[in-house]
Amino acid sequence: MSAWLMAAFLNGLDSAETTALTEAMLHSGDVLDLAGAPGTPVDKHSTGGVGDKVSLLLAPIVAACGVPVPMISGRGLGHTGGTLDKLESIPGLRTDLSVETYKRQLVTLGIVMIGQTDEIAPADRTLYALRDVTATVESIPLIAGSIMSKKLAEGIDALVLDVKCGRGAFMKTEPDARRLAETLAEIGAEAGTPTVALLTRMDAPLGRAAGNWPEVAESVRGLQDASDGAGSIADVMDVTLALAGEMLALGGAASDAGTGREQAAEAVRSGEAFGKLLEMVEAQGGDPSVLDAPEARTEQAAARVVEASAEAQGYAADLDALGVGRAALALGAGRRRMSDDVDPLAGVVVHRKPGEPVQPSTPLATLYATEGSPRADFDEAERRLLGAFSFAEEKPDVPPLLMDRYAGGAWGRG
Ligand code: URA
Repeated sequence: MSAWLMAAFLNGLDSAETTALTEAMLHSGDVLDLAGAPGTPVDKHSTGGVGDKVSLLLAPIVAACGVPVPMISGRGLGHTGGTLDKLESIPGLRTDLSVETYKRQLVTLGIVMIGQTDEIAPADRTLYALRDVTATVESIPLIAGSIMSKKLAEGIDALVLDVKCGRGAFMKTEPDARRLAETLAEIGAEAGTPTVALLTRMDAPLGRAAGNWPEVAESVRGLQDASDGAGSIADVMDVTLALAGEMLALGGAASDAGTGREQAAEAVRSGEAFGKLLEMVEAQGGDPSVLDAPEARTEQAAARVVEASAEAQGYAADLDALGVGRAALALGAGRRRMSDDVDPLAGVVVHRKPGEPVQPSTPLATLYATEGSPRADFDEAERRLLGAFSFAEEKPDVPPLLMDRYAGGAWGRG
């Protein structure tokens, strides 16, 4: 297998070979049958980044609009977070539900978020471990096959992809991110699962929070915000609503993605999306009351405020997502090895993002970790955080996060 992986890594795989690999990994385990689900189940996959809490908002929004969302998510590794770690920072919430419970909850609530089970694409797990030790992870066909075998095993009818591009992303360059998006969508099409990919920027963290509970708290504020997040987390909401629009169109609840986006925004404004999140949290054993006032849990953590130096003047010009991700890792929010535990309260909340004004002593960020946590190194986190910022006298242009859309074999905003 190692020799085969190296051959595939060096020579690449063509489209038929990539599809054959994906099919073989998909059928190495169970392919879930969601026939009893009310409607057309649709999921989203993100290739991951820093502060990417989109699933926490998106799944309840889409479910509140009548499209069932069965989501099987992963854990964080290195500087990127994982949805499961974030969800489990809600006291009591369980993500290790059985397949039977997963199906039942999808029927009753239209939303369920769990972790990978041993039955789903077991060949991918074995191959991924082998890729890790043979330095063959960074191959677009192998990555695409790995992602799609797991997603197609969920039993979904359609899929939306958030392919991230930039310093904080798996794909650092635009050509690579485009090629990954095309490969993923083509596998979906070959498998008869309509797949739309959005290409989104991941140079700065998404939103202001990176970490576990800090990201849950930010997501809750986004869903509670009757102005549909146009305030403090406008960037998160922009990506979330764009993905929601696509999911509602694919799920048959909207005539097109633009209409779907409006329906999704209305589900936030009406409070229905927040209500759906609370229902899911309760069904999965979590304590929904902590979500009513997320600050109370945030205040249980030890905190350090990082201020701008005496020379800082003008605007935050740049904020490197990778640096912020490493600051969160130093606080214990992430894993250096897959076997590490994560600190549910650990993370970073930045108070200045590119384009926002800065003066000497402006609070740039607050660092959080569980009081007395042996994993937390506040000094290293502060160094990483300060290294992630740069300043300028002129206000910088901040490019939009949504870069492009790939659907039906073509690029274009549609
Ligand atoms: N995520 C996956 O699931 N597989 C890969 O190969 C890379 C990222």
